[in-house]
Amino acid sequence: MSSIDQSGTFSLGGRRVKRLGYGAMQLAGPGVFGPPRDHDAALAVLREAVAAGVNHIDTSDFYGPHVTNKLIREALAPYSDDLVIVTKIGARRDERGAWLPAFAPEELARAVHDNLRNLGLETMEVVNLRIMFDTHGPAEGSIEEPLAALADLQRQGLVRHIGLSNVTPAQIAEGRGICEIVCVQNHYNVAHRADDALIDDLARDGVAYVPYFPLGGFSPLQSSTLNEVAQRLGATPMQVALAWLLHRSPNILLIPGTSSVGHLRENLAAAALDLPEEALAALDGIAARS
Ligand SMILES: NC(=O)c1ccc[n+]([C@@H]2O[C@H](COP(=O)([O-])OP(=O)(O)OC[C@H]3O[C@@H](n4cnc5c(N)ncnc54)[C@H](OP(=O)(O)O)[C@@H]3O)[C@@H](O)[C@H]2O)c1
Repeated sequence: MSSIDQSGTFSLGGRRVKRLGYGAMQLAGPGVFGPPRDHDAALAVLREAVAAGVNHIDTSDFYGPHVTNKLIREALAPYSDDLVIVTKIGARRDERGAWLPAFAPEELARAVHDNLRNLGLETMEVVNLRIMFDTHGPAEGSIEEPLAALADLQRQGLVRHIGLSNVTPAQIAEGRGICEIVCVQNHYNVAHRADDALIDDLARDGVAYVPYFPLGGFSPLQSSTLNEVAQRLGATPMQVALAWLLHRSPNILLIPGTSSVGHLRENLAAAALDLPEEALAALDGIAARS
């Protein structure tokens, strides 16, 4: 069994994917804006991920914009049958790279078509509606209008499954009244656990939870506890953070991001890392202290 297979699988829409996947956001230029510093290195990361067995890649056409999707297509098309590419819509970038909401039905339709064209696909397997009431975290407000527009694109056959991102439990409940919600993508990691109860609720319903910033995102996790546990286990702090997420709940699918083949290999090897009880207890204390 290769190390990534040890992460197990979970269903994402109509497909089963390995629980260790890859998030492509880091492949765009600085600030997720413009082209990568090293085009060939970005292609190499994507090819290495798939060669290592990754069959779930998270992306968006607003990374770059248009950059990561074109890289994915260049590196990986024609795609293997088992590869699930998940995108998100609901935001756009201005000319300086700022992140702005893009929720009007015509903006959502354009975003789905942009993703399809730049990825070279006829149908998106999963599209997450990224809620932008507050860019940095979930904020209450009705999502009915944009979600109904996305459900319409699903009925047209452009989208197979729908997920939600940056949402509250109330918005997920509202969303389920409009269409099936197959995954939720929110900010969560060993130090940021606001969604603990939500994850358990979604697990009971068989819905995938895909934490973004699993390694802390733009400010990667720094914790003496993480360092100590990693040292005891002969692992790296990032591997311990990913192994903790895999242990946390069976419906968690990981999409750690990196622009480096070395970091990618390190992250995927976390699938084989067992965390003993005393390590789990120490790691569980991080969020309480932070
Ligand atoms: N739905 C949303 O609103 C949303 C928001 C943000 C992200 N996302 C998705 O979630 C994915 C994951 O989030 P993310 O990439 O922002 O953050 P992340 O996975 O938490 O962390 C990425 C950061 O960690 C570094 N890193 C990765 N592996 C490392 C290692 N082994 N050792 C040391 N540093 C390491 C990366 O730098 P290097 O490049 O140098 O490795 C990068 O700075 C994204 O790729 C994207 O697909 C979704």
